[in-house]
Amino acid sequence: MGFLQSNYQLTICILYSLIFCLSSSAHLCHNDESTALLQFKKSFSFNCSACKCSRIPAQYDIDNWKEGTDCCAWDGVTCDNTTSHVIGLDLVCNCLYGTIHPNSSLFNLVHLQHLDLSLNNFNHSQILPSFGRFTDLTHLYLSDSYLSGPIQSSEEEVWQGNNFSNSIFHLQKLQELRLDGNRELTGKLPSFINGTLRHLRHLRWLDLTDIDFTGELPNSIGQLEYLEKLYLTNCNLFGTIPTSLGNLKKLTVLSLGWNNMNNGQFPSSIGQLKNLEKLDLGGCNFSGTIPRWLGNLTRLSYVYLSYNNFEGPIPQLFSNFSQLYLIDFSYNHLTGPIPSSITGLPNLHYLYLGSNSINGTIPPSLFHLVNLTYLDLSSNNLSDTVELDTFAKLEYLESLDLSNSGLSLTTTNSTPSSFRNIKTLRLSSCNISKIPEFLKTRNELLDMLDLSNNHLNEELNPLCNLHSLRYLDLSNNQLAGLIPTCLGNFNGNLTLLNLQRNNFHGSIPQTFGYASMLQELDISHNGLQGVLPRSLANCMNLEILNVGHNFLEDAFPFWLENLPQLKIIVLRDNKLHGPIEQPRKRLAFTNLHIIDMSHNEFTGTLPSEYFGSMHSMMMDDEDKSSLNYMAFGYGYYSVTIMNKGLEMTLVRIITIFKAVDFSYNKFDGKIPITIGRLKALCVLNFSRNGFTGPIPLSLVNLTELESLDLSQNKLSGEIPQQLTSLTFLEVFDVSQNNLTGIIPRGQQFETFSNTSYRGNADLCGFPLSKKCKTPKVAEPPSLPSSSSHNYKCRLDGFGWEAVLMGYGCGAVFGLVIGSCIIRRKEEWLVRIFRVKMHHQKNRSNEVRYQYGAR
Ligand SMILES: *[C@@H]1O[C@H](CO)[C@@H](O)[C@H](O)[C@H]1NC(C)=O
Ligand SMILES: *[C@@H]1O[C@H](CO)[C@@H](O)[C@H](O)[C@H]1NC(C)=O
Ligand SMILES: *[C@@H]1O[C@H](CO)[C@@H](O)[C@H](O)[C@H]1NC(C)=O
Ligand SMILES: *[C@@H]1O[C@H](CO)[C@@H](O)[C@H](O)[C@H]1NC(C)=O
Ligand SMILES: *[C@@H]1O[C@H](CO)[C@@H](O)[C@H](O)[C@H]1NC(C)=O
Ligand SMILES: *[C@@H]1O[C@H](CO)[C@@H](O)[C@H](O)[C@H]1NC(C)=O
Ligand SMILES: *[C@@H]1O[C@H](CO)[C@@H](O)[C@H](O)[C@H]1NC(C)=O
Ligand SMILES: *[C@@H]1O[C@H](CO)[C@@H](O)[C@H](O)[C@H]1NC(C)=O
Ligand SMILES: *[C@@H]1O[C@H](CO)[C@@H](O)[C@H](O)[C@H]1NC(C)=O
Ligand SMILES: *[C@@H]1O[C@H](CO)[C@@H](O)[C@H](O)[C@H]1NC(C)=O
Ligand SMILES: *[C@@H]1O[C@H](CO)[C@@H](O)[C@H](O)[C@H]1NC(C)=O
Ligand SMILES: *[C@@H]1O[C@H](CO)[C@@H](O)[C@H](O)[C@H]1NC(C)=O
Repeated sequence: MGFLQSNYQLTICILYSLIFCLSSSAHLCHNDESTALLQFKKSFSFNCSACKCSRIPAQYDIDNWKEGTDCCAWDGVTCDNTTSHVIGLDLVCNCLYGTIHPNSSLFNLVHLQHLDLSLNNFNHSQILPSFGRFTDLTHLYLSDSYLSGPIQSSEEEVWQGNNFSNSIFHLQKLQELRLDGNRELTGKLPSFINGTLRHLRHLRWLDLTDIDFTGELPNSIGQLEYLEKLYLTNCNLFGTIPTSLGNLKKLTVLSLGWNNMNNGQFPSSIGQLKNLEKLDLGGCNFSGTIPRWLGNLTRLSYVYLSYNNFEGPIPQLFSNFSQLYLIDFSYNHLTGPIPSSITGLPNLHYLYLGSNSINGTIPPSLFHLVNLTYLDLSSNNLSDTVELDTFAKLEYLESLDLSNSGLSLTTTNSTPSSFRNIKTLRLSSCNISKIPEFLKTRNELLDMLDLSNNHLNEELNPLCNLHSLRYLDLSNNQLAGLIPTCLGNFNGNLTLLNLQRNNFHGSIPQTFGYASMLQELDISHNGLQGVLPRSLANCMNLEILNVGHNFLEDAFPFWLENLPQLKIIVLRDNKLHGPIEQPRKRLAFTNLHIIDMSHNEFTGTLPSEYFGSMHSMMMDDEDKSSLNYMAFGYGYYSVTIMNKGLEMTLVRIITIFKAVDFSYNKFDGKIPITIGRLKALCVLNFSRNGFTGPIPLSLVNLTELESLDLSQNKLSGEIPQQLTSLTFLEVFDVSQNNLTGIIPRGQQFETFSNTSYRGNADLCGFPLSKKCKTPKVAEPPSLPSSSSHNYKCRLDGFGWEAVLMGYGCGAVFGLVIGSCIIRRKEEWLVRIFRVKMHHQKNRSNEVRYQYGAR
């Protein structure tokens, strides 16, 4: 019996091997294709950190590509059953790093039907005309793979060696084409179907997100009758949206966000696209009311209309849209109430209505959206008083933003167990006067808490249970007592702590250093005493330290000089004292952008070496066209400094903004010549000290300077004539010194008034009434070239907010509110986590979240 059974097993075994042999022999791959694949593999190095792939290790392991083995059995390779030609190559996320040359052996695989090379790094290779050789290609995926250069348009044919090559837009069998996320690609959209040229007519899926196609969206797109998914987000397109889009009856995804569609309205023909599931028209300058035909698109699950100019009330459109998953109407000019018909959306997870002018009260139907996880009603004109726990009815809520919504929140009935899933809670300016109970219980989820601009006046110890907090903003309350030491113990997690403008007293806990993730610490405008905690020297990630407006008594914190990320130090208005000694290290404060030590009691001469190592302030190479802001996960940092004679809050600190403020101290001696090395400085303030000697000539090298204040010192000598070359100078003050001689003329110096020079007994010439005794031959002054001024350090109406000695704008770590902030594309990009159904095999249901990068 045992024998029989094992014999039977043996037979089965042999049978299987036979079948296996037969099937694999049917698959034996062609030699030349095997060679081509091996060569292709050899032409790359493997560097996963160079690729955008988040799935590492790769899905396919191409280590098993070995000479002498059947290439049809190799990972990622598919062969035709009958001809054995290689028809599929899937190397998505394989850490390939290197160039695709025109002679690449890839182009010998002419039978390819599926080619997926997405999420590798092709080191700025072009999409070569050779791709036009793959005439059987039905699926081409080259997303996020560092391709660059122009895409050849469909009209040209290119002579390559002995063969004509066509553009990829000529591949007649193409059904899916995805080139998204290659930001360096440029080109012109093809005329999709033009007379007899019927290439691309089988296209079902076209994703060209982020490619720079300057031009119009051709009307011919309406002829791609099989098109189901169209992604043209952020493609630099302009002009009108063609009405022919209404012909694309199979369309389920229409994504045209962030183009310059300036026609104001969009065609109602989109209302005929009954199969539409995802509609993205954000950031396109549309105006008018929200179109009613949206109500016809009953299959919608995502609708993005944010960052447009839509006005009027939100129509009662979406009742009983059973699929609707996300509504984003934020950043428009919508008015009127939240529609009560917003009920009956069982699948709604995301509702963004922030930054509009929505008024009225919260309809009770809102709380029937039981599956809601994200709710943003911030920055509106609602008028209602609501118990915070009412929102806890939405038991899956992970993110709630009611900041500046106009709502007043009571927390008297809050229970310890509410909001069990909350991760992000933003309740700035909500008239809250008591910390809600649920924040006092242990919580391992809460990541971000913003209770700024309320009326809290308790002690903070109850918050010590919020272990997982990364962002804590309690600024502008009346919180009192000591800063709890536990805040320093949220180690590993806390990166931002903003306690400015409260009533904290006592000394700063010595525990902050343990919170080595800390990037921003703002404890300014309190009543803190004592010394700065030396433990801060351990915060290697610290970028921003603001301890201004307290009663700290300490020497200059030279021990911070090694912190490699430190960009902003504000020590303003304390009782800090003593001399600033020479740096201990050769490289000190190398990354500093802003240092404000004003209104203290520092003495002695300035050590010249510090200015010699502040490399960031010397660097003027940052790209002005793509302005960067100092951003933190949830917003932008803001800092208040003196600039141009005003106290200004820079709500978004442009990284090119560099400033030094040592005013109101007791420094003496000469101004170090080395100051002239800080070529990138925008603001320099040495006023109200005891500096002696001449104005250093090296200041002429500070060519970006917009504000120079040397007033109320004991400077002597003449004002260097060469300073007229500082053509961005808007504020110049040397009043109350001991300067002599002729005031320079020409350029910006024609614009300064006599107050800039007051209190210098021996200055003469324009604009003072005192004539010079030995007038030089009057040079015809060259006038300032005001029309062509291109201030580097600021953007008009964008970035700067003058706040006259106050807190008018409610700047809260840059999450600045209402009119004060222009949150734009970047934030939208963070929000629009693109949920993309990915193709093929095991990945068919993969949901891809991309933050920031697009
Ligand atoms: C891998 O790529 C990263 C990022 O481009 C680069 O910094 C690194 O030097 C590369 N490593 C190798 C071994 O080439
Ligand atoms: C090739 O074989 C696979 C399974 O062995 C089968 O699913 C597929 O239909 C075949 N393709 C062709 C073109 O015969
Ligand atoms: C990427 O391109 C640069 C310049 O074209 C070249 O110096 C570098 O070696 C290339 N890297 C790889 C991995 O091919
Ligand atoms: C392909 O061309 C590149 C330069 O264009 C060269 O470095 C490389 O050796 C060539 N490869 C083959 C296989 O001819
Ligand atoms: C021309 O195309 C054929 C296949 O279409 C290919 O085998 C050959 O290598 C190409 N020649 C050149 C010079 O690119
Ligand atoms: C069709 O293509 C020709 C060039 O081949 C071009 O001049 C013409 O404008 C195109 N027509 C349309 C409608 O795009
Ligand atoms: C919307 O649907 C209604 C009724 O089905 C129809 O009368 C109307 O024409 C449709 N609007 C659009 C723009 O398709
Ligand atoms: C919440 O969503 C789930 C699926 O995500 C669904 O099954 C459930 O019915 C929804 N809840 C309600 C009340 O519709
Ligand atoms: C809301 O605003 C509109 C105009 O924008 C106004 O007519 C209406 O009275 C306001 N409603 C409330 C409740 O304030
Ligand atoms: C940081 O947060 C995680 C949860 O996100 C938590 O498990 C961990 O204990 C926290 N770390 C500390 C030191 O509290
Ligand atoms: C300005 O900078 C240049 C180069 O850094 C230097 O050679 C020159 O001496 C400086 N000018 C003055 C007046 O210090
Ligand atoms: C002003 O400078 C002159 C020399 O230029 C000097 O004699 C005088 O003492 C200075 N006055 C003050 C108040 O420093």
